[in-house]
Amino acid sequence: METMRGGPDGNERLTAASAAVLFLMLAAEGVTILSIRQLLSVHVFIGMLLVPPVALKIASTTWRFARYYRGARSYREKGPPLLPLRLLAPVVVASTVAVFVTGIALLIQGPGRGIVLGLHKASFVVWLVATGVHVLAYLSRVPRLAVADWRTGAAAVPGSFARRSLLAGTVTAGAILAVSTVQYAGPWLHWHG
Ligand code: HEM
Repeated sequence: METMRGGPDGNERLTAASAAVLFLMLAAEGVTILSIRQLLSVHVFIGMLLVPPVALKIASTTWRFARYYRGARSYREKGPPLLPLRLLAPVVVASTVAVFVTGIALLIQGPGRGIVLGLHKASFVVWLVATGVHVLAYLSRVPRLAVADWRTGAAAVPGSFARRSLLAGTVTAGAILAVSTVQYAGPWLHWHG
């Protein structure tokens, strides 16, 4: 079963392809932060669009983690990530989850200068530092791996169609989520805190 899914090499490609999509979308999200008043609807739209691809990347890295610690031979042979990056990973995941949970909580709660907005900003600062280091560490490896499943002629790793479908599926799900929830940014548009 494992070889049909591509094992750790397939897992690495899925992680890298979702990382590339996140990198581009998060760069756009970063632009909205620079002018949040004018771009709040875009901020919420891209934020919601990001939720399923973020979940996919957390799932694919958690999969590697679980397979490694449960002693799957192929994952053991590939080895774990470098120690500093292994230690950093929980901070990246926790701050990412915190930014998104507080962002969604802001929509539910509505406008105001409360604790949730403070937590959204504070988790963003932690996220920026941790993810900045994380991205720089992996930057040189990701582009080649990210496009590998989308190029004809690249060495085939089983499960390519499933991986492409998963990534396209999460982006589509994100678009549906974003279109159906961007209206909840409405009350924030008229808030001038
Ligand atoms: C589901 C996703 C998200 C939603 C619904 C959301 C929603 C919001 C809302 C309603 C505000 C308040 C805007 C205001 O003060 O007028 C805000 C501010 C902010 N958001 Fe998000 N957000 C999301 C994702 C993110 C992400 C992914 C990041 C960065 C990685 C981020 C970073 C920030 C920052 C830094 C601010 C404060 C900007 C400032 O006051 O200068 N948000 N967000």
